[in-house]
Amino acid sequence: MAIGFNTPKQLFGNKALDDFPKIHVFKYTVHLMRILGIESSADETAAAVVENGERLLSNAVASSLDLHIAFGGIVPEIAARSHLEVITPVIQDALNSAKCTWNDIDATAVTYGPGLGGSLLVGVVTAKTLAQALNKPLYAINHVEAHIYANFITSGPASYQLPAKPPALPLLALIVSGGHSHLIYLKNHDDYKVIGRTLDDAVGEAFDKVAKMLGLPYPGGPSIEKMAIKGNPSAFKLPRAQIRNSYDFSFSGLKTAVLRAAQTAVGKDYTLPSSALPELLSERQKADLAASFQATALESLVNTLEKAAQDYSPASVVIGGGVAASQPLRKLVKTRLKTGVDYTDVGLCTDNGAMVASLAFYKSKNISPSDIDTLDIDPSLSM
Ligand code: KG4
Ligand code: ZN
Repeated sequence: MAIGFNTPKQLFGNKALDDFPKIHVFKYTVHLMRILGIESSADETAAAVVENGERLLSNAVASSLDLHIAFGGIVPEIAARSHLEVITPVIQDALNSAKCTWNDIDATAVTYGPGLGGSLLVGVVTAKTLAQALNKPLYAINHVEAHIYANFITSGPASYQLPAKPPALPLLALIVSGGHSHLIYLKNHDDYKVIGRTLDDAVGEAFDKVAKMLGLPYPGGPSIEKMAIKGNPSAFKLPRAQIRNSYDFSFSGLKTAVLRAAQTAVGKDYTLPSSALPELLSERQKADLAASFQATALESLVNTLEKAAQDYSPASVVIGGGVAASQPLRKLVKTRLKTGVDYTDVGLCTDNGAMVASLAFYKSKNISPSDIDTLDIDPSLSM
């Protein structure tokens, strides 16, 4: 979409106009690419419009979270049905908030994996239908890779706290969510290497399961963060898995250690089911377990991130994924890393369509759009 003219200052930074030959014609048509990003891999139905991968025009998110709370985790069938109900109004909301019509949208982008099959299907079928009907290119996006690109958004509504500039490359990204714990070294757009990943549970999953043991509501991350404020992080000595000679993570041992510590704290042995714990634990014990678990989990993430940053010397470090919304994680990373870290808004850490649209912009420079006829979901897509 071609809109307007940029002023000479925008095009040439602060260089004085007099520095340029007088015959220079200062009229350029700048092509701004507006992409509609659609995300539906888990419990959030999201759509956003992003300009040139960096300017957030809108970010609409509807979550079916309330419907899953009673079950202590996402119920795939409920999530898929909910996506189906809200995806059209969410997309319309994204367009309206961006003050765009379909004519203003140059391309669409959608998460096609990894994620829950039924949930992904709703987003992908919707995006394919739109792309076909509107005759616009469609980019198929990897959800984990998209979490990195939330950090490339540098301007948007005043309510968003965004970094002043996109992260410099090569970058090191810690992507931590309910389904993933990845350490990625991104040399260039479309040229990256996963240097570490979890060997068992994702860190967000560990937060969710420990929260359930303590009788705290889903999602576990924010509930544990709140409870931990009242607790003593040194009250329980928990094991911190550090995988030798690797940047991999492991959280299942820590999760089991919390369970054993809680059973012991209430005077029972390992046969006590975790579902009985919330009734037996005191508020103090819950707060101390939450604080001790959170400190140990975040410490092992940051130790590995710090080691990778020392070995790879990236130009920048970013964090992304739902767990990156954690204020204690943000503080710990800032104090421990020598490379400056700029964080994106917490609203862009959890699942959203803006990160999908931003990544699609960078992809559009190097790769052709997806084939609408053959594009399919890939629930176990890897990086
Ligand atoms: O990225 P996301 O929205 O969905 C997935 O791709 O999984 O991440 C959701 C995860 C949940 O496990 C949730 O407990 C965690 O992010 N989370 C947090 C916080 N907010 C959300 N974990 C720690 N601290 C938080 N403040
Ligand atoms: Zn995610």
